[in-house]
Amino acid sequence: MAFTDWRALREVPVAFARAGMMLIKYWDSERRRKRLKLLLDIRSHRDMLMLPGEACQIMSAIEAVKKIPGDMAELGVASGASAMMISSCSPERTLHLFDTFEGLPKPSGKDSPRFKQHQYAYLLEEVQQYLKGAKVRFYKGFFPDTAVGISDTRFAFVHLDADLYEATKAGLEWFYPRLNRGGMLICHDIDSPGVSRAFEEFFEDKPEPYFDFIGYQCGFVKM
Ligand SMILES: C[S@@+](CC[C@H](N)C(=O)[O-])C[C@H]1O[C@@H](n2cnc3c(N)ncnc32)[C@H](O)[C@@H]1O
Repeated sequence: MAFTDWRALREVPVAFARAGMMLIKYWDSERRRKRLKLLLDIRSHRDMLMLPGEACQIMSAIEAVKKIPGDMAELGVASGASAMMISSCSPERTLHLFDTFEGLPKPSGKDSPRFKQHQYAYLLEEVQQYLKGAKVRFYKGFFPDTAVGISDTRFAFVHLDADLYEATKAGLEWFYPRLNRGGMLICHDIDSPGVSRAFEEFFEDKPEPYFDFIGYQCGFVKM
């Protein structure tokens, strides 16, 4: 490709940035190609509520905690698409899955009006069938009540995707002391006021910095 064409190509992401969007080439290493293939495969047959870039950030985090002991968990499973992705990235680890499987609980006044009670209701049996063969455990019902039986479990990776203030705050309070040092937590929907408020309040007295990624996620590494 001529030098001038290459320069013109570099302007494409800048044009997207001017329109308030990010365009990123992700096909530049075997690791990344593998992540893209897995994500596109899951998306071809299942509702996935996160952006491709967000999914890749989760896969990158799971690879990064390879040396950290502990299980994995997701609060907010819905159709099981993100759970399938998480489990496929580290199939030898147990993945604990928490959801009402009746959709969102009633949002509070702290939450975005875009969230509605019973939104994202998927049948537990159907999600179990989809994840058949994966090393997963299901906890149906209202979190954190459903977590009482596994309070001694320790984690290397946690995905919070429960959309609402109460659930996010409860997720941070429950998982933070159970995350091993070097373990990572990623949370979706940091653009929503309930989730960002839960993070601000929770991290007021914590030593870890948390930061937002491209897309609508934020996360931290446990110190
Ligand atoms: C956006 S969906 C999860 C999407 C999924 N992670 C994906 O990417 O496909 C949010 C889920 O959080 C669950 N949820 C919210 N608050 C909860 C709580 N307190 N206990 C259990 N599940 C909860 C809802 O039932 C809903 O299925």
